[in-house]
Amino acid sequence: MALFIVFEGGEGCGKSTQARALHRHLLQEGQQAILTREPGGTGLGERVRRHLKRPGGMPISPLAELFLIEAARAQLVNEVISPALQAGQAVICDRYTPSTLAYQGYGRGLDLETIRGANGTATGGLSPDLIVLLDIPVEAGLGRKKGRAGDRFESESLAFHRRVRRGYLEMARADPERWLIVDGRRPRQAIRGTIRERVSALRAPGPGA
Ligand code: TMP
Repeated sequence: MALFIVFEGGEGCGKSTQARALHRHLLQEGQQAILTREPGGTGLGERVRRHLKRPGGMPISPLAELFLIEAARAQLVNEVISPALQAGQAVICDRYTPSTLAYQGYGRGLDLETIRGANGTATGGLSPDLIVLLDIPVEAGLGRKKGRAGDRFESESLAFHRRVRRGYLEMARADPERWLIVDGRRPRQAIRGTIRERVSALRAPGPGA
């Protein structure tokens, strides 16, 4: 199966820019690759996204939020990610299951085991080959979004965003084989290089492979 790469991080970390850059790079190298995002990437997912991000919309409880995200995810895996991987296309996804552990688990306080179970059910156990974490201090990330009204997540408290960041770092440090932690404050070009190196290493058969 082709490579499945996920970009993660808190608000304003620069992951979407880097996900797009890696997608362009793979295409330029002549590889077949698609870029998608969560929540989103399908008709259903994009609708869920609008509801979840809209500030001042209808109330959504943490558990309802979890199931909306998982519903969008189940559709994305079924409609987009699995078919692409099976067709030999690399898949780059802007957020995936770790976002739910970070935001709904560490951030909102839902039980991590419940979330792991829901993630596993929604994805059928499909997990990425590489998760790139763009790590940036919370104030710096939110500061990049200044000048426009914050969405439902961006408007959460600093304490919420700090819990999200801590969650990401805990997950990434516990599984360095699968996670790459990149300092999101480094120049864009340098970040791009670090990510490309790790992706090339994944594509090259290792010693004894
Ligand atoms: P973004 O595309 O700007 O990152 O926006 C997506 C928002 O959705 C972001 O604030 C994080 C949130 N989110 C969750 O809370 N849990 C999830 O599982 C996912 C995929 C996203």
